[in-house]
Amino acid sequence: MKLLVINGPNINLLGLREPDIYGKKTYNDLLKIIESEEKNLGIKIDTFQSNWEGAIIDKIQDAFNRYNGIIINPAAYTHTSIAILDALKAVNIPTVEVHISKVSEREGFRQINFIRNFVVNSFEGYGIEGYKMAIEYLYEKLR
Ligand code: DQA
Repeated sequence: MKLLVINGPNINLLGLREPDIYGKKTYNDLLKIIESEEKNLGIKIDTFQSNWEGAIIDKIQDAFNRYNGIIINPAAYTHTSIAILDALKAVNIPTVEVHISKVSEREGFRQINFIRNFVVNSFEGYGIEGYKMAIEYLYEKLR
C-alpha cells in the first residue's frame, strides 16, 4: 500500500506559527510521526508540502495510478480552492482531510470547505496526531 500526505501553505512553519492554535510541534516532528506509521504499518508513505496551489495540484495529478490513498491538509486553500477539489475529483483516489486546529469552530471564513464533500473522512482539532489517525483510518479502509 502506498499513501501520500500533502500539506499546504504555512504547514512548514509548524511550531513557530501561532503555537496557541497549531501547537509547538514542528513539521519535522510531523514527518517523524509519519515515518513511524510507515514502519508500524509496513506501508510506503510519501510526503509533500508546498506553499503553492499549482504545485499541490500537480502533485495530486501525479498521484494518479501511483497511490492508493491521499491524506491532505490543504491549509488555507481548504477555504478557497475549487482547483484542488477538482484535482482530487479527477484522480478519484480515496482521500482523508486533516486539520490541526478545530477548524469548524473557528472564524466564519474557515467554514467554507471545498473538499469536505469529496473526502471519505475528516480529522480536525487533534493537533499533528490527527495525521496518525487519518493514516490509520485510511490503512484500515484500504487493506
Ligand atoms: C488548518 C486550518 C486552516 O484554516 C488554516 O488556514 C491553516 C491550517 C489546520 O490545519 O488547522 O493553515 O488547515
